[in-house]
Amino acid sequence: MGKLRRIGILGAGNVGSHCGFSLALQGEADEIVFVDIKKEKAEGEALDLRDALPFLPHRVRVWAGSVDDFKDSDIVIVAAGPLPRPDQDRLDTLGETLQAFGDTIPSIVRAGFDGIFLCISNPADVIADYVRKASGFPKNRVFSTGTSLDSARLKRILSRDTGIDVKSIYAFSMGEHGGSQMIPWSQVSIGNKPINEFFKERIDSLGAFDTEAILEETRFAGYSVLTGKGSTEFGISNAATDIVRAILHDEKRILPVSPLLEGEYGVSGVHASVPAVIGKRGVEEIVQMKLSEKELKEFQHSCELIKKHIDLVSELIKGGN
Ligand code: 2OP
Repeated sequence: MGKLRRIGILGAGNVGSHCGFSLALQGEADEIVFVDIKKEKAEGEALDLRDALPFLPHRVRVWAGSVDDFKDSDIVIVAAGPLPRPDQDRLDTLGETLQAFGDTIPSIVRAGFDGIFLCISNPADVIADYVRKASGFPKNRVFSTGTSLDSARLKRILSRDTGIDVKSIYAFSMGEHGGSQMIPWSQVSIGNKPINEFFKERIDSLGAFDTEAILEETRFAGYSVLTGKGSTEFGISNAATDIVRAILHDEKRILPVSPLLEGEYGVSGVHASVPAVIGKRGVEEIVQMKLSEKELKEFQHSCELIKKHIDLVSELIKGGN
């Protein structure tokens, strides 16, 4: 019999608990362990999820544990720290998120965890960089969900505007999981048809193809959710489950995630979202597309903003937040 698939979840708040639920619902884990500094919160989430199990098609073992339980995990999902408030940029949550982490990442490594860190905590790209450095893991095994969520939102928007199902839309955003992300329109297609051609052929029914308006809506789509319900959880937990599936089944699927860039797209020393091949070794390859000059500049501009915040991390840690 093969080894049981264990997924550790650090942080049992809105995002972490929904990741557990999504993994259980989709049968992508045999064991799910929640770890949270608020032990009773982790216990509550584990019990609530266990109450759902009699109604789910797959058997899953769920419990609230400690970082020692991460030892045998294939993947640890890092979801600790606050969600941004509607009036806050994700980048503004950096200090608070680092404070919530404390010494947890090195202690997970000391406990013997040797799998893949999938980071969600915000600001996602900066935190992925922090987790990679704090863990000492190789770059293929630490990355963030990045713009996988924003790309889902972009597909939702394009689906609304074109009437075509999200599954027939190939679209993604790149760069920061945040306000500076960009959309490489030259790579976006609807049923294999370049998107500008698709719009041009339907100008009478669809109207003009307004890339700026779509970009703006995509960039701030998370805030419409936050303003409406105070948290975002369904989208991100299913984006994370999709990435977990690609890893555990060694799918070699190309997904937009945020790994360390070392020269790709002219950027080095920054985690930022790019299309990457995901398989059992994590990020197995970064896919380099031919972007237009304008697109490349927009991407690099987004990376500069991430880099500025990566440079703040050691000071924030030294200063206690
Ligand atoms: C999201 O985009 C807030 O980063 C979170 O849903």
